Amino acid sequence: MSFFSIQPQLPDTHSHQGEVSWKCPSNIALIKYWGKRPVQLPENASISFTLDNAHTVTSVNYQPRSTSEKWVQFLFEGKEEESFEKRIVKYLNSIIDDIPWIGQIAFKIESENSFPHSSGIASSASSMGALALCLCDIEKKLFGLKDEALFRKKVSFLSRLGSGSACRSIYPHIAAWGPSEMIPESSDLYAIPIDYLDEVFTNFHDDILIVSDQEKAVSSSAGHALMDTNIFASKRYEQAGTHMKSLLESMKVGDLTSFGKIVEDEALTLHALMMCSDPSYILMEPNTLEVIKRIRTFRKEAGLPLFFTLDAGPNVHILYPHHIKTEATAFINSSLLSLSHEGRIIKDQVGQGPVKLK
Ligand code: PMV
Repeated sequence: MSFFSIQPQLPDTHSHQGEVSWKCPSNIALIKYWGKRPVQLPENASISFTLDNAHTVTSVNYQPRSTSEKWVQFLFEGKEEESFEKRIVKYLNSIIDDIPWIGQIAFKIESENSFPHSSGIASSASSMGALALCLCDIEKKLFGLKDEALFRKKVSFLSRLGSGSACRSIYPHIAAWGPSEMIPESSDLYAIPIDYLDEVFTNFHDDILIVSDQEKAVSSSAGHALMDTNIFASKRYEQAGTHMKSLLESMKVGDLTSFGKIVEDEALTLHALMMCSDPSYILMEPNTLEVIKRIRTFRKEAGLPLFFTLDAGPNVHILYPHHIKTEATAFINSSLLSLSHEGRIIKDQVGQGPVKLK
């Protein structure tokens, strides 16, 4: 049973062909989603900044499918990509009960990322978000749907089934996913926008220092699965709930000191959980730790609110408010850039969410 009312067969009226295109940003979690249960439901609530520069643009050309025709043709950055195509077919099959008309349509999907493929930045959130936006937009056109809030909810729901954290990329600025007593109407089926926090967070910076561009040794899916046997799992889920409460309280009043403490604790907890999984693994590199140490020293000496967080990888997300941009940039250029891989950094910030291009 799907949560959404289902649009069944294609209607007779409207045209069944066309093209839609969406730009969808990536996001960085402040409270991390780590550990899940079927089907792609989080063990704890999470919250993230929606980014801006790190994004995927996806265009979907659609027309009625003849029985002999290929269901999906996929081009990544202009080239046919068989492995990605297979993944998309698997994904479409997995959501066909929620969006059955897709079986009657042939899709030509073209996708590109704003960041290099080998930058060590995961693209699953932005790419699954962009694809789900395109599919729901086509559904909107085919069936003449109008409810914008329901549209976003369904996009978030469908993107979640492709990649859990993708469901948070659908909203501007800040989004939360997973039930929390602090967040009315929160759900583990989809994310919802959080728009009542202090203004300082609406243009917060996230400069992503690329420490390594290598593919991770352990994928996020494998990492989530290892939480099933992690002896600290239940304590962790409890901690995530407490962190969510304190983080929202600090963000409501713009308390940057408390914000930074919780966000850094979350990042280090995520990696600590990896280190005490069975088997254990480490995704941080020596330079990840060196960057963290230098950020903490800078913060103490300069007395400025500059913090770090980490994704499931070695790259460091440097977080700071817009009003310290000059000082933060000077510090990053003089003290951190030399620790990056080939001087690579992706300068990003909290953004306005997805944009319809066509
Ligand atoms: O969405 P997934 O399955 O790639 O998992 C994402 C996990 C983290 O990025 C580490 C945390 C998060 O909440 O985004």
